[in-house]
Amino acid sequence: MLKQIIFISICVLFALVIESGAMKPIIIVHGGAGDISESRIQGKFDGVKVAVRAGYEKLMNGGSALDSVEAAVVSMELDENFNAGYGSVLNLNGEVEMEASIMWGQDLISGAVTLIKEFQHPISIARKVLTDTPHSFLGGNGAKLFALEKGFQQVPPESLISESAKEALNDFLNKGDDQRTEIGRKDEGGVGTVGAVAIDADGHIAVATSTGGINGKMVGRIGDTPLIGGGTYADDNVGGISTTDFFLGHGESILKYCLAHTIIKLMEGGLDADTATRQAVNGMTARLNNTAGAITLSKNGDVGIHFSSKRMAWAYVKNDKVYYGIEHDQTLEEPL
Ligand code: GLY
Repeated sequence: MLKQIIFISICVLFALVIESGAMKPIIIVHGGAGDISESRIQGKFDGVKVAVRAGYEKLMNGGSALDSVEAAVVSMELDENFNAGYGSVLNLNGEVEMEASIMWGQDLISGAVTLIKEFQHPISIARKVLTDTPHSFLGGNGAKLFALEKGFQQVPPESLISESAKEALNDFLNKGDDQRTEIGRKDEGGVGTVGAVAIDADGHIAVATSTGGINGKMVGRIGDTPLIGGGTYADDNVGGISTTDFFLGHGESILKYCLAHTIIKLMEGGLDADTATRQAVNGMTARLNNTAGAITLSKNGDVGIHFSSKRMAWAYVKNDKVYYGIEHDQTLEEPL
């Protein structure tokens, strides 16, 4: 009898050790901060939920955090509700010029691309920069040549342009500066930069962020999204962050404030994910008079979500539930 009790106790103890040692995978995504119109809300909700499930599926099938964030962002790069891939906002010449970054928190390696015009998935090219080059950042023609060398399929640049993006640029050209935002038109626009942060079963963190930039930007303008420390940051010892912005100054404000890295430093200093995200986003808004949003995961899987804009679409999967929202103080949930 005593032997049986000892044996059962050892089994229970062993199971508890295994359970506590394995990290439960988590993924969170955002679909852009801004003055998102009512008419765009359902499309945003649908898009972030599809994306977060695509990323979570990778994690459940043994994929790494890098596989997960890439899959989530690829999903939003196909969806015209977002300012990334198809549906990206346009520069002053009426062209799509996209940029993206991805980072792996185990050893702080990163890949980024900018001024991409002829490929559907900038995030996948950024991942190849991370895995297949000694560099961190490729732009313009060099990025194009690299993508072709790696077998990415070139698409006609016009095929990435949505009707909404064309209308947003026309509005900007007719109405002026107040329409120059990452979400395009304030009324019916509302697309928005996309991002994802994930922790896999091994406790590794990855972050991916992708954008078309801002509506009516100068040709060749580069924003915050491809910049490590601005749009994206991942460190297994601390956590991961993806950012998004809105209104005058746009990505330029995130870039000046190094928003993603500011959040990391606050967490390193002892703040939890939510407080650090709130403090950094509000700090940027107070200092630079522009709004932004960020999603954060700490290395322990705590979630931080904050935006100083009117709205920001987000979703995450934790403990087999999908949580999502777009308004301040809103958390909706549904079964996975
Ligand atoms: N994050 C979008 C931009 O301002 O480029």
